[in-house]
Amino acid sequence: MILFILLAILVVVLYFYGTRNFGYWKKRGVKYENPIVFFGGNINNFLENISLSERLSNLYKSHPNERIVGLYEGNNPFVLIRDLDIIKEVLTTNFRCFHRRGINFFNNCNEPLMMNLFTVDDDVWKLLRQNLTAAFSSGKLKAMFPLIVERTGKLTEIAKELADTKEEVDVRELMARYTTDFIGACGFGIESQALNEENADFRNLGKRIFNRTIRDAFVAILMSVFPEIFKNIHFFAPEIEETTFSIVRQIMARRSYKPSGRNDFIDFLLELREKGKLVGESIVKRKSDGSPEIVEVELNDELLAAQAFIFFAAGFETSSAASSFLLHMLAFHPEVQEKCREEIDRVLERHDGKLCYDAVKDMKYLEMAFKESMRCLPSPGFLLRVTCDNFHIPGTDVVLEKGMRVVISTDGLCSDEKYFEDPEIFRPERFHPDNIISIQKFTYMPFGDGPRACIGERMGVMQSLAGVAAILRNFTVAPSRNSLRKPRIDPKSMIVQTILGGLPLALKQR
Ligand code: HEM
Repeated sequence: MILFILLAILVVVLYFYGTRNFGYWKKRGVKYENPIVFFGGNINNFLENISLSERLSNLYKSHPNERIVGLYEGNNPFVLIRDLDIIKEVLTTNFRCFHRRGINFFNNCNEPLMMNLFTVDDDVWKLLRQNLTAAFSSGKLKAMFPLIVERTGKLTEIAKELADTKEEVDVRELMARYTTDFIGACGFGIESQALNEENADFRNLGKRIFNRTIRDAFVAILMSVFPEIFKNIHFFAPEIEETTFSIVRQIMARRSYKPSGRNDFIDFLLELREKGKLVGESIVKRKSDGSPEIVEVELNDELLAAQAFIFFAAGFETSSAASSFLLHMLAFHPEVQEKCREEIDRVLERHDGKLCYDAVKDMKYLEMAFKESMRCLPSPGFLLRVTCDNFHIPGTDVVLEKGMRVVISTDGLCSDEKYFEDPEIFRPERFHPDNIISIQKFTYMPFGDGPRACIGERMGVMQSLAGVAAILRNFTVAPSRNSLRKPRIDPKSMIVQTILGGLPLALKQR
């Protein structure tokens, strides 16, 4: 009996704890997605079997007249921003109030991998961003282009083997192997063998990072429902942490912790390591006269390894998702595919048949098709920020309190017919220089916007275009027996939208 009473008390306490914030949006007169105890709106992903990105996009679409919409993740109120003027405030004008992405709940130094540029916030983010930007300059990209070209050669060979032996090829897996190999070479100076061996270590690490297990889902729920209690739990599984640290440690040790002259990302990190620390103006702390304080960040090996990790994680999944989805769209739009191929042949003829940096830069129509396929499926379909101070939304009575999580559905925006006529139609001409000016700012953001936008955009675009050009130069792609015109997004996808069952296509040699 006593046990029963204790259990009943525990359930009641947990219920009140798990619903303590559920009146938040109602009180402020903001329309919101109905929450369910403990899960908030998260349970909708599960009940409707959709990804977070799709859920946010649906929420965007179902409130066409609202400037903002409330939602709950676990017990925490979040806000979805729909209005372009407010989006501008968040991403650019008021960046000082929104520089945090807020994924790393406590800017948690206990979990070294979370100190990567994507998930870290505040001064560590600011100084890292300032110092890492040079690693993504056009000069660096041009210098690494021969490595990309080498990988496109291998990609073509593997694609030929697969086309000869298989009725259909999963282009999602093919492009993931190409991208993994490229990142291995350009980021880490190693032959990852991902293109040659299906189960190469590096490829397996990539798969593990983005394949969410029950452990990962459970940890994410605990962290979002009971953030204070589980603040020391590690978001990334031990095998991801151990493999990453071991790979980076081994490569750095092999180079005796000195830049090797390969000019890859690890060399860049080793150059930074020689500085010992980063010094610069704080984005958080101000002196009494209002000017920023000068702050320092110590560069230890774990912090450097976390940057190598994000170079790999953020670089490979997004680029392989985007390039394979372009191939998918071209398979279902043969007339666009033919135009791309004609352009590739024409441009390569001008460059002695060589796929080089300048040739890829000249493939304007292919780039338009790439942009349009990213509009049809922006791979991270939403952006995240957190308020660093109370923020009064201009033109409303709503104040976003300090610590409020802000989401922007890039997927919802770029499929909104208010901004894109016939949004369901694949039409690369939208991105023709004559038409691009009519695309409203902040409606198309596959790489985000503002000072926290993607640092690797140019690399992602050039490497993806080179891979797709190599395939189209040698093959035609067409729908195969298992191709779905509208592929299904994996409901377990977290940030990058992964596709259930891959993207099978028929590859025919020209
Ligand atoms: C087609 C390829 C890619 C797409 C679609 C993409 C997309 C994005 C998006 C949407 C964001 C968030 C932006 C925001 O919140 O405003 C982001 C951030 C980031 N991306 Fe990419 N990305 C791509 C390629 C790459 C590559 C190749 C790298 C590096 C090798 C990279 C590294 C990063 C990093 C480090 C961040 C965090 C930046 C910061 O917070 O300062 N991405 N990316």
